[in-house]
Amino acid sequence: MTPEALLAMRDPLGAPVHPLIAQILLVVTYVLHIFFVTTAIGSLLVGLYGLGRREENWQRLAKVAIRLSVQATGLGITMGIAPLLFVQVIYDPAWYTATTLMGLWTTLFIPVVALGYLFLYILYLRGNLAGVGYVALALLLLAGFTMHSLANAGLYPSRWVEWYAPGGVPDTTGVRFYGYDLPRFAALLFGQAALSLGVMLLLFAWYFRRREDVPRDFLAFVEGLSRGALRLGAVLFGGFGLLWALTQGRELGLALPVALVALVVAGLFYLHAPRAKAEGALGTLGLYLGALLLVGILREGMRVAALGRMGYSPLAYPFVWDWGSLLFFVATGLAAVPVTVYLAQVLYASGRSKEGGDPSSGVERFGDLGVRLLVGWFIFYLGLGLFVVVRNLGA
Ligand code: HEM
Repeated sequence: MTPEALLAMRDPLGAPVHPLIAQILLVVTYVLHIFFVTTAIGSLLVGLYGLGRREENWQRLAKVAIRLSVQATGLGITMGIAPLLFVQVIYDPAWYTATTLMGLWTTLFIPVVALGYLFLYILYLRGNLAGVGYVALALLLLAGFTMHSLANAGLYPSRWVEWYAPGGVPDTTGVRFYGYDLPRFAALLFGQAALSLGVMLLLFAWYFRRREDVPRDFLAFVEGLSRGALRLGAVLFGGFGLLWALTQGRELGLALPVALVALVVAGLFYLHAPRAKAEGALGTLGLYLGALLLVGILREGMRVAALGRMGYSPLAYPFVWDWGSLLFFVATGLAAVPVTVYLAQVLYASGRSKEGGDPSSGVERFGDLGVRLLVGWFIFYLGLGLFVVVRNLGA
């Protein structure tokens, strides 16, 4: 693969926005994606463990954790679509090469995710079918490993031709995984799954701390577990992160930044774990989102450096401002944010007391605004579509 060939693989139409916007959105949406999928894996693991314990607290926690895992998987899948779109806009040569090389796994990705979610849902509905839960876990991990390999194969353009045609003979089966780095996968998935679980358990203890019907000893149990999960996450992330630095980090000449980020995140949470309290759960959440952003920036920096050696820079991606798409993007955001915030506030209010609660009148007004914006969005969407159709009738 020559630098010229790599550049020639870019979309001749160019990106629809300045590539920096796509790059920032790629990192930010990736952070949200990884937050939810690691929450899903962490809570599923603790849920499955809890199912095997007899103590009441564990049984109770298992139910909560499995339910959390279902919600987090749904949010993780939804939030995965956004980075998928942005990565294809500014890194299409790398992404499409990787998806072609691993054609079988790319094709199986959606069925694997759908089946994983289905099995998880069955576990949630039936409550005690641990075997079904393990199948769901295996499928979700396979989906994660597929995404990991797709993202990482793109970092090695100099190896693509050899992977495609080992010894000069094309291998079009698409059955092999390429580019993966197991320590990186373990740090990003298992290390962060324990950290996400710790943060979520702390939020749970914070949210229910004023509910009289939730036993105090259960909340204390959850709070204690959250500290353990944070400490475990710090150790796993630090350990696997250092191995990541010694493997892929060294290969790409970036061992030092990877090791530094691994040590900073691990150190921060190892020191924070014994002090983490339900009262300060929002602070812990903020700290964690900051750490995830740091790791997200590191991932992006590694990609920029690896492809930069081949003369590829996402910031040099040709682009034309596509105002129609931008307008549509902004209008969708404007309509979606109030509706989502309103629903989140309703959910927040509904669990504050045993009988459920109504949101305040301010929140209700916000909801009305959201519904109006949504109706406006439908009209705008139809109008834009009709405008494009009519304008192209004579073309
Ligand atoms: C449900 C199970 C899933 C798990 C456990 C999972 C896990 C992961 C992990 C660990 C990474 C980081 C890989 C690395 O940097 O080495 C990742 C990246 C990514 N995931 Fe997922 N994922 C899941 C589902 C999805 C879905 C359904 C989508 C899209 C619809 C998706 C889209 C992405 C994208 C686009 C990236 C890479 C972004 C980039 O290269 O910057 N993921 N995922």
